[in-house]
Amino acid sequence: MTDIAPDGSPVAFYRRLPATGEPELIHGAVVAGASVLDLGCGPGRIAGPLAALGHPVTGVDNGAGMIAALPAGVEGIVGDAATVRLGRRFGAALLASHLVNDPANGAAFVATAAAHLEPGGVVIGETYPPGWDPAGAVGRVSHLGDAEIVLRSATLDGDRLEAVVRYGVDGVEWSQAFTARVLDETGLRALLADAGLRFDRWLDRPGWFVATA
Ligand SMILES: C[S@@+](CC[C@H](N)C(=O)[O-])C[C@H]1O[C@@H](n2cnc3c(N)ncnc32)[C@H](O)[C@@H]1O
Repeated sequence: MTDIAPDGSPVAFYRRLPATGEPELIHGAVVAGASVLDLGCGPGRIAGPLAALGHPVTGVDNGAGMIAALPAGVEGIVGDAATVRLGRRFGAALLASHLVNDPANGAAFVATAAAHLEPGGVVIGETYPPGWDPAGAVGRVSHLGDAEIVLRSATLDGDRLEAVVRYGVDGVEWSQAFTARVLDETGLRALLADAGLRFDRWLDRPGWFVATA
């Protein structure tokens, strides 16, 4: 394991993760051919297939190794999704991977997404589903492609989640600790409203939502 993004995400592991319907979900929620800004894009698990579905996709990640791993056809920019301003606007801005739940930068990530929307554009995001029971998920093994993912520990104190997740692929394992702010729908609506966005609807996948300007 050599390359770790600033948030602790291992590039080699994320490169092995396949999309599991997210690109099609997003494709179905935006205008045909809409340009997409993927904030925290990683190595393009979602961005790559979205580009293949006919969307011009720009990915931003503060892990240079993540951007270097993006597939051809996706524009990559090394930058901090909390502060980056590209001077361009998009038909859709993505906040996947629970960026809205980041306790320190969630509001800034939402503001970045809002700042890059064309008129009529949408933000598509992923939050921990309201009512999610993190403690109940501890120890459960899930698989994404060749990768195994296990939530090792999860402690909820008020709305603050402290958790450790273990990833494994090809016999190599990594652990990543993270802190999240768990939001109910009221909290999500307030976070969005602070950036001038309006919660529009839940998508047909737990935790995925659409917001508009
Ligand atoms: C869990 S990975 C998911 C990548 C991708 N969204 C996906 O669904 O496969 C989270 C990504 O967000 C990136 N990230 C975290 N904080 C960031 C920040 N402040 N600015 C830009 N990228 C960030 C990490 O480097 C990592 O690539």
